[in-house]
Amino acid sequence: MSSATELVEISFEGRYTLPEVEILSDTAEEIRRKQERVRALCAERNAILLAHHYQRPEVQEVADAVADSLRLSQTAAKTDADVIVFAGVHFMAETAAIICPDKRVLLPDLRAGCSLAASVTPEELREWKARLPGAVVVSYINTSAAVKAESDYCCTSANAAKVVGAIPADRTVLFLPDQFLASVVARQTRRSNIVAYPGYCHVHKTIQPDQVAGLLSDHPDIELLLHPECGCVSSCMAKAMDGTLPQDRTFFLSTEGMLRHIGESPATEFAVGTELGILHQLGKKYSQKRFYPVNEKAVCAFMKTITLDRVIRSLETLEPQVRVPEEIARKAKRAIDRMLELA
Ligand code: 13P
Ligand code: SF4
Repeated sequence: MSSATELVEISFEGRYTLPEVEILSDTAEEIRRKQERVRALCAERNAILLAHHYQRPEVQEVADAVADSLRLSQTAAKTDADVIVFAGVHFMAETAAIICPDKRVLLPDLRAGCSLAASVTPEELREWKARLPGAVVVSYINTSAAVKAESDYCCTSANAAKVVGAIPADRTVLFLPDQFLASVVARQTRRSNIVAYPGYCHVHKTIQPDQVAGLLSDHPDIELLLHPECGCVSSCMAKAMDGTLPQDRTFFLSTEGMLRHIGESPATEFAVGTELGILHQLGKKYSQKRFYPVNEKAVCAFMKTITLDRVIRSLETLEPQVRVPEEIARKAKRAIDRMLELA
């Protein structure tokens, strides 16, 4: 067992199958016709299409909302649609199904999993809890419903420090599954009693300190926006503290936090340390600013399984539906509701 500041090397790669990223060759006209079909079907089915920032641009463009995990959950909680189509990954659709038990939640491709969520099972969490009795369990939203059901609190990258900060300072916190986010939260909350699970996202883990340093040397005035799941965060936090990186220009932000920050910042150049799908919204909202991905290969193959064709098929057939067994949903909802109350 390790504290949140000591990083642990364990591979979870055998636990998931990465889908192949399909290169689509639709013309602009075909994309437009498919998007029209999606909108017509959403109206017919009284459906809402929710898309994460890592989705394909043409899917983001046709969605009712494009946001991070937190805002997508909040949007699901408020909708009066009968059907929620989740253009995202499985844990996001499960969360919507838990929050909205009377709605039909669709995930257009069930291969849309998450390597981070796959890194912890409910059995492993139970073992952890047995070894640390009395600890408060905070699970990142990137976990299965069954893991959330074993947790006291849920959090996203946008509110992890707030959630952990609300726990009495003398209580040990079991934080899972992302070890990099855990180290950021430990630093932000100044707690030394956070025990981190050794999980990671296979995409963000590849975002490394030398890539950040390379961008900074090419663009000395750039602001560094790093998702807290990145493999570079511990090193970058330490370098920001000792002045090797500019402390006033280094930020650890959720995808939504990045969008908000850029809108408020006078800077014109930004290094973006996260999955490349976000560049679509950034370019659209801030066309006068320039964005440089920290790692140009940071692509989540799970997110890219959702295509317009699959969204259309899903709306036509109302399948594949994501359901969560009642008992698990009831327990997981406590952890999610605690987060939504604090958010
Ligand atoms: P956000 O909470 O920032 O949307 O991130 C979700 C995610 O899956 C990051 O990899
Ligand atoms: Fe999961 Fe990583 Fe993909 Fe986010 S980018 S959905 S954490 S695999």
